Amino acid sequence: MDMERESVGPRLILETKLNRNGKWVICNGVIPCASVPTCWTSEMYPRFHFVVTRDNMLITENMPMALVTPKTTEEFRNYLDSALQDRVANHYYQQHTLQTVESVKAKREKFLTFDHYKLSVWDAILKLNEIVDESVSDPDTEMPQIIHLLQTAESIRMAYPDEKFDWFHLVGLIHDLGKILSHKELFNEPQWCVVGDTFPVGCRFSESNVFHPFFQGNPDNTHPIYSTENGIYEQGTGLDNVLMAWGHDEYLYQVMKHNGVTLPEEAFYVIRYHSFYPWHHKGAYNNLTNEQDRKMLHWVKEFQKHDLYSKLPEKPSVEKLMPYYQSLIDKYFPKVLEW
Ligand SMILES: [Fe+2]
Ligand SMILES: [Fe+2]
Repeated sequence: MDMERESVGPRLILETKLNRNGKWVICNGVIPCASVPTCWTSEMYPRFHFVVTRDNMLITENMPMALVTPKTTEEFRNYLDSALQDRVANHYYQQHTLQTVESVKAKREKFLTFDHYKLSVWDAILKLNEIVDESVSDPDTEMPQIIHLLQTAESIRMAYPDEKFDWFHLVGLIHDLGKILSHKELFNEPQWCVVGDTFPVGCRFSESNVFHPFFQGNPDNTHPIYSTENGIYEQGTGLDNVLMAWGHDEYLYQVMKHNGVTLPEEAFYVIRYHSFYPWHHKGAYNNLTNEQDRKMLHWVKEFQKHDLYSKLPEKPSVEKLMPYYQSLIDKYFPKVLEW
C-alpha cells in the first residue's frame, strides 16, 4: 500500500509505505529538480526534518525537530520513529553506494580465509550479545541479540514442534551470528557491510530494493555490463552462482560450510538468503533463480514470519532454554568453529 505526497515549500516528493510492523515510513525521496541530486539523505539535506505519521507527513526547513513535534503522546512516538528512520535511511545510503562487485570480492577475499578466530557457537552468541547496535538497519527492534535469537527459535519451535524440524529451531537461534563481523574487538566491520536487506551485485539493481534511488551513487549502476538486467550472469543461473551484497547472511553461510556443519540444505538456504527481501518478499530477481531456488523459497519465507514477528516484548529465559538448544548445537556443529 503506497502513497505519494507532494510537499509545500521545498519541492520534495516523498513516497511512504507501511513497513512490516505496520508503521508508516519513508521508502523513497526524490527531488524533482535538475540542479540537485535525485536522492537524499539527512546528511545531504540536514535542514530538512521529516515527521511521518499515519496520515500525513510534515516537512520543515530550518526548523528544529522540537518545533514540529506533534502534541499527543501517540504522535510523539511517531517523532521518535522518524529519528530512527533517519538512521535507517543513512544506513541504506551507505550500503547502496558502497556494495559493488569489487567491494564484495574484496570482502570475500578478506573473510573467507577463516583464520581470524576460533569460537564455539555459544561463544559467538555471547559475542553477538555484546554488540551495541547504534545504527540499526532494522527499524523494528532494539532488543539484545540473544533475546531476538531465542524468540525467533522458540517461535519456529512452536509452529514446527516435531523433532524432524529440530534443524529449523536451531536455524532460528543461529541465523544472525554472522553479525559478529561488526563486533568492535573482533572484526570491527561497518554496518553497511554487515546488516540490511541484501541484493545481487553484477546486474541491475531491482526497483524492489528499499531506498532504490540511493543506488544512483553506486559506480556499478552505470557500468556497461553490471547495469543490464542479467549483468554478468546467465538467465536462470541459480543463486548459488550469484554474487550477493556482502553481509551477515553470506558470512555465516560460508562459516558453516567451511566448518562442515551437518544441518540440511534448507538450513543453509535460510541462513544465506534471509535478508534477500527483494527476492523472497517482492518476487524480484527471478531472472537469476533456478528450480532449486524456487523449491527452497518456501523455507526462506516460512523463516521470515518468525524472524520478524517474534520480536515480542516478553523475554524468553536463556537458562531454561539453553539445554535444549545446546543439544542441537552438539548434534549439528563441531565443538569449535573457525571464523
Ligand atoms: Fe539477519
Ligand atoms: Fe534476525
